[in-house]
Amino acid sequence: MRLLITGAGGQLGHDVVSSAGAAGDEVVGADHAALDATDRDAVLGAVTALRPDAVINCAAWTAVDACEGDPGRAYLANALAVRWIAEACDRVGAHLVHVSTDYVFDGTLDRPYREWDVVGPRSVYGASKLAGEQEAAAMGTSAAIVRTSWVCGEHGSNMVATVLRMAPDLDGQVGALAFVDDQRGHPTFTADLAPVLRRLALDRRSGVHHVTNQGAVSWYEFIAEVLRAAGHDPAMVRPISTSELDPPRPAPRPANSVLDNAVLRAAGLPLPRDFRQPLAELVARLRR
Ligand SMILES: NC(=O)c1ccc[n+]([C@@H]2O[C@H](COP(=O)([O-])OP(=O)(O)OC[C@H]3O[C@@H](n4cnc5c(N)ncnc54)[C@H](OP(=O)(O)O)[C@@H]3O)[C@@H](O)[C@H]2O)c1
Repeated sequence: MRLLITGAGGQLGHDVVSSAGAAGDEVVGADHAALDATDRDAVLGAVTALRPDAVINCAAWTAVDACEGDPGRAYLANALAVRWIAEACDRVGAHLVHVSTDYVFDGTLDRPYREWDVVGPRSVYGASKLAGEQEAAAMGTSAAIVRTSWVCGEHGSNMVATVLRMAPDLDGQVGALAFVDDQRGHPTFTADLAPVLRRLALDRRSGVHHVTNQGAVSWYEFIAEVLRAAGHDPAMVRPISTSELDPPRPAPRPANSVLDNAVLRAAGLPLPRDFRQPLAELVARLRR
């Protein structure tokens, strides 16, 4: 399979490139500098020159709080760019696998979100990502939309990397870190997500898929697991509520971010593992 990966410099894009390369695909990874997805001419030029079998779009403006202050930039990168990519894919018959987010939901549901549940983003970032989904969905059966959550990888800034960096200086200090206990989700590791994106491209699957590692936790519980995996005392983290965050964050987060991987399960595709396994592997890699 010949693949074009947009946003290849990001934490997910990096691992999609390496995972597809390891699977024997012909992979072109384009980072932001190589291909600005908001530049329609550049996107059409790159895709029609390469004529890939599929494009996996990992490009996005992911600065959730900054998006609140610059909706124009958020919609350009997270929605209109998807229109250009979809248009280019259409010209060459390439399948599109587009990556989206749990933030399209408002987080008030009392059970895990299925692919067909009603969306209702609470932030500019979430709304711009939902608009991107709509752009991809306009391609009909030529596009898959993959919603994921709480993404962590070796090549990016994420909570695992941050906690590993801070923990040695805080060892022995009970409750030195404070994380919210009233937002729950599925931590997801790029090493596990990347091969699923490739598989969806290979199968030319369409429609919305929730793809996350399994095991729902609050941020507080997740950070305790990170500390445990790295051999630190989990009591180093204490639970707080979102209302205690000081200063409050500009963009509201969904309280319930748990994505049920209902389509994968119903389609008989394997679900990504419990998050504790790839977490242990990532901790080992980051400490090398
Ligand atoms: N991180 C999470 O917790 C999370 C959760 C749910 C869903 N997601 C989704 O997962 C996908 C991958 O996210 P990630 O965690 O890998 O984020 P990331 O590390 O921020 O990667 C996104 C990449 O897109 C690039 N990019 C931004 N604007 C671009 C443009 N106009 N053209 C081309 N590239 C552009 C960025 O480059 P620059 O930095 O150079 O601008 C960055 O390398 C995104 O769709 C995101 O919405 C992420």
